[in-house]
Amino acid sequence: TTQLTRDAEELKALPRQGRRAVVMTMGALHEGHATLVREARRLAGPDGQVVVTVFVNPLQFGAGEDLDRYPRTLDADLAIAGQAGADAVFAPSVDEVYPGGEPQVRITAGPMGERLEGASRPGHFDGVLTVVAKLLHLTAPDVALFGQKDAQQLALIRRMVRDLNFPVEVVGVPTVREGDNLALSSRNRYLSEADRATALELSRALLAGAAAVDGGAAAVRGAARGILEAAAKLEPPVLLDYLALVDPSDFTEVPDDYAGEAVLAVAAKVGTTRLIDNVPLQLGAE
Ligand code: PAJ
Repeated sequence: TTQLTRDAEELKALPRQGRRAVVMTMGALHEGHATLVREARRLAGPDGQVVVTVFVNPLQFGAGEDLDRYPRTLDADLAIAGQAGADAVFAPSVDEVYPGGEPQVRITAGPMGERLEGASRPGHFDGVLTVVAKLLHLTAPDVALFGQKDAQQLALIRRMVRDLNFPVEVVGVPTVREGDNLALSSRNRYLSEADRATALELSRALLAGAAAVDGGAAAVRGAARGILEAAAKLEPPVLLDYLALVDPSDFTEVPDDYAGEAVLAVAAKVGTTRLIDNVPLQLGAE
């Protein structure tokens, strides 16, 4: 059975054996999270240990974002985490993570944290990296797994681990999608039926971009943009925040003659819900 731990002392007292793999989440677990946990189980091995953290981190939400309405479903989360192979779930309170209120000393994400998601959500990645750093210290894993769904977050965590010498291996896991290609997200539950139909245009645009790789970066951007321009006229519309074709190591836009790995990323509002999605691509030079 999966052990629920609410405080850091109790977590520290957990017997430690073999490789420890950690999956950090904000709860409202779905099949995407479960896939990370199953991969963690595989990497930890039968003798190792899988810890899932569930914590809705106030520090990474901006004013007017959905901190208050973010879904909280701990009982269901425990069942899903256990079913996927977690040995323990660490679900601390805000006070447990931030005793004495907001931390004065924080991680700064740097330039990569100010692009795309960071431009739309100022301070978001500082909040993410600060809690990820704290949870890495509290859980002390050998390996930590994160989803490609949040590609810029994954890139920033890799960068933090490298820049600040965190003794952990970071593993990225491909995005898990519904049968119709909608990327799984805790926020999908906010979508009405009509919103959801419109939301499908995001993955459709990314797939159109991916299908145009042989034409290079400009063709990829053009193909995706075409779908999103049409989707802006739907009811409800896709309200595009950004579409970008970036270098996955620093999230700067790639030039038109670029060859190498890239990420085609999109963010948009549908109804009242902000959605993000991306696909990894290989451009140029066969
Ligand atoms: P959350 O949005 O709950 O996501 C937890 C982890 O699950 C992240 O690594 C995310 O990339 C991954 N994930 C979410 N949807 C996925 C999908 N469809 N396919 C694959 N992986 C998916 O990301 C956060 O929480 C927070 O920012 C956190 C890192 C926990 C820090 O608070």
